[in-house]
Amino acid sequence: MSARIYPSLLAADFARLAEDVGRVEEAVDGLHVDVMDGHFVPNISFGLSVIEDLRPTTSLFFDTHLMMSNPAFFFPHFKTAGCDMVTVHVEVVPDPTEIAGKARAEGLKFGLTLNPSTPFSAVEPFLPLVDNLLVMSVFPGFGGQAFIPEVLEKVERARKTIDSSQLAADIQIDGGITPETGRRARAAGADIFVAGTAIFGQPDPVEAVATLRAALED
Ligand code: DX5
Ligand code: ZN
Repeated sequence: MSARIYPSLLAADFARLAEDVGRVEEAVDGLHVDVMDGHFVPNISFGLSVIEDLRPTTSLFFDTHLMMSNPAFFFPHFKTAGCDMVTVHVEVVPDPTEIAGKARAEGLKFGLTLNPSTPFSAVEPFLPLVDNLLVMSVFPGFGGQAFIPEVLEKVERARKTIDSSQLAADIQIDGGITPETGRRARAAGADIFVAGTAIFGQPDPVEAVATLRAALED
């Protein structure tokens, strides 16, 4: 399947979110919405009302990365705000079986993610439950950090497991994605590429998406 690109809203201009998203809408495959609670990560991004106000301005798929200590409590609220998928950290929910069911009961797709320091074995048993496995390639909390190449081994292992067991999960990578690091993650088996700085941080975000896409399709 061809590579998909989701720009990260975190790198957009928060005073002009609809404008920034509208500019890239035709060029991308979904929108990565980074919610930070100031507790699981040492930063605060934005919350439900921002998502709710942005929702009617675009038809893009809202992929919500929940960097939060208590994500499941908010699932109904994320659904109401217009999210399509919620991705939670396995560090917060070591056994996500129950909350995967809660997400689905709300009509949300469900993703699981792991930090660079968390081993693949923490998520492996739950792959049959997820639509999205997000392999973090930076420690979450801030945009603009350097890609950690050691995580590529987890992408390779996930690719093998998902393919050999014929699972439906996509493999997503997030953090420090550029045309160069994206190409390496693509070779390791990633499907969905989240990029903040490399898209919204560029003078021409549409051209930046095209450059990234060309690198991924090489
Ligand atoms: C990091 C976030 C990422 C971030 C990526 O906590 O999860 O989605 O916005 O930003 P870049 O692409 O700048 O590393
Ligand atoms: Zn993210």
